[in-house]
Amino acid sequence: MAAKIFMDMPGGVKMPAIGIGTWQVSDEVELVTALNFALEIGYRHIDTAFVYQNEAIVGRVLKEWFSSGKLKREDVFVTTKLPAQGVHKDRVEVFLKKSLENLQLDYVDLYLIHFPLALKHVEGGPPGPPEVDETDHLAVWKKLEEQVDTGRTKTIGVSNFNKIQIDRILKNSRIKPSCLQVELHIFLQQRELVQFCHQNGIVVVAYCPLGSPAFNKFLTKIGKDTARHPARPSRREDCQQTQKTTAQVALRHLLQRSIVAIPKSVTPNRIKENIDVFDFTLDAEDMKALDALDRGENGRICDFVHVAKFKDHPEWPFPK
Ligand SMILES: NC(=O)c1ccc[n+]([C@@H]2O[C@H](COP(=O)([O-])OP(=O)(O)OC[C@H]3O[C@@H](n4cnc5c(N)ncnc54)[C@H](OP(=O)(O)O)[C@@H]3O)[C@@H](O)[C@H]2O)c1
Repeated sequence: MAAKIFMDMPGGVKMPAIGIGTWQVSDEVELVTALNFALEIGYRHIDTAFVYQNEAIVGRVLKEWFSSGKLKREDVFVTTKLPAQGVHKDRVEVFLKKSLENLQLDYVDLYLIHFPLALKHVEGGPPGPPEVDETDHLAVWKKLEEQVDTGRTKTIGVSNFNKIQIDRILKNSRIKPSCLQVELHIFLQQRELVQFCHQNGIVVVAYCPLGSPAFNKFLTKIGKDTARHPARPSRREDCQQTQKTTAQVALRHLLQRSIVAIPKSVTPNRIKENIDVFDFTLDAEDMKALDALDRGENGRICDFVHVAKFKDHPEWPFPK
């Protein structure tokens, strides 16, 4: 089965089917080196977020590429995300402007609501655990639509929303969500949600496409229990394809389901490996074997329960 190199989005925007993720990379040298290498070898899609605290580094790298003339702005697809503190109608524009300033860009290609819940926001407020806040997705969405009108973002979408939440926006919006970014990999294949999005013209982007092998490191860093997240076994042996690595097989499985993937790596050979997935095909038997590894909800890794009080919020998106 063919895998597309770009996914079509509204307004003629094309999203490259493999992008580079940047979560948990806030070290300047590490991120600059990884992004420069990725751009050198042909990556044209970068995924960042306000909360990753690395937009400014992404911005400095891009500025260098644009001012040297090696790339033009329109050559690179940049996604960033509205943090939970911004999921309020009065704060959408404020946060997008902050992100654009960090990124040194006039526009992003995709602006996503990072998570369906809101946290209270106090500008320069006291440190400490943030409190959850009420949110009204339709009012917030209208503000995102306005950001398309102003040209600050080419397209808008959501992340970590469930089918009910997306459907509510679909039925009450002038500009439809163009993208859903969700956790999606071999162990959490999200078949129903993917089908619903594709039927509604929504591009699906898989985060943690490799099963986020470093997730336990993150939980340990923030002092949380890792017991519910056992290390993932290698799975290349589950299909006949032997010329490619486990990561390449996992990414190709997504591409052949018409899903975009944004693997994160700061390791050159892995960055290269992760985009070298367009010269082979998984046959029907391999696809079937990989499909069978789906564990449904038991495969979820990034469940956000590490964020205090999220789970009790009325817009909590995942099964309780
Ligand atoms: N919207 C959301 O809520 C959300 C949530 C989570 C993630 N994301 C986005 O999705 C991106 C990807 O997710 P993720 O970073 O959690 O997980 P991931 O891409 O599934 O896994 C990244 C991990 O896999 C390792 N890795 C990368 N390529 C590899 C390869 N070819 N072979 C073996 N190991 C490899 C990386 O190590 P090295 O870096 O050491 O090479 C890193 O530890 C994020 O960076 C972020 O941009 C979005």
